[in-house]
Amino acid sequence: MARLLPETAIAPEKLHAAMRYAVLGGGKRIRPMLAFAAGEAVGADSARVEYAACAVELIHVYSLVHDDLPCMDDDELRRGKPTCHVQFDEATALLVGDALQSLAFQILAHPEACADASTQVAMLAQLAQAAGSRGMAGGQAVDLAATGRALELPELEFMHLHKTGALIQAAIMLGAMAGGALTTSGRSALERYAHCVGLAFQVMDDVLDAETDTATLGKTAGKDAAQGKATYLTRMSAKEARIYARELIDDALNSIEIFGVAGQRLADIARFVTERRY
Ligand code: IPE
Ligand code: IPE
Ligand code: MG
Ligand code: MG
Ligand code: MG
Repeated sequence: MARLLPETAIAPEKLHAAMRYAVLGGGKRIRPMLAFAAGEAVGADSARVEYAACAVELIHVYSLVHDDLPCMDDDELRRGKPTCHVQFDEATALLVGDALQSLAFQILAHPEACADASTQVAMLAQLAQAAGSRGMAGGQAVDLAATGRALELPELEFMHLHKTGALIQAAIMLGAMAGGALTTSGRSALERYAHCVGLAFQVMDDVLDAETDTATLGKTAGKDAAQGKATYLTRMSAKEARIYARELIDDALNSIEIFGVAGQRLADIARFVTERRY
């Protein structure tokens, strides 16, 4: 990603510096890891998967930069550093999100990003859907509308599957599609895995917000309760939420058994989702 992002010396320097600041030097990179692991499960060439992995991470970082803006979650700490709008300014942070989203699609359109052109068009369409109003942006709209209100479990699930699950699913499906069209059984196994991992990931994000300290998290702890956010912890105890996340991960592990040893890295990442401390 350091290679793919414009150098700071290129005009407009401030925007490029802010893009590099937001993307580089932090983050768990779980979406790229999922893309590579899904590619491995179906035998895709990792040199191709790299484009999908970077594209999804750039959309993810854009979503974080906008999520932290004063008009959304109003956060000052991200990945252990001042948030983009604090380090630069709000207008720059807005443009960082816009520019990262465009760059993501430019990277995914690279001729090397997929083994065949018609599958590559499907990958572009899938990332567009996952980022848009039927995916991440839609989930963020539900999140904002729900603040200060208690959601029922089906509404919480809808919100989490959209604001977070959609991009996690895109990482997995695009990583696999980089190798060419998927078989019906491969596709449905990966979709089931992605559904469970995506939901469990945001359930654990809710748990960690309440249970982990700011230094470990790299973002301000306890913000969800302070801001009246609708989370799984408004519907169940942290202990129950952890149990639910583990059940989802068990389901994810079962669904990828068809890949045998090639699915080992997908299994490892699924386990990491509930074991992680930040
Ligand atoms: C945080 O995602 C926001 C969510 C969608 C839950 P991550 O926990 O993956 O954040 P980074 O990329 O490691 O900073
Ligand atoms: C993350 O939800 C959703 C997106 C960034 C799309 P949160 O608002 O819970 O994420 P954090 O906790 O700020 O990372
Ligand atoms: Mg948010
Ligand atoms: Mg937030
Ligand atoms: Mg959170």
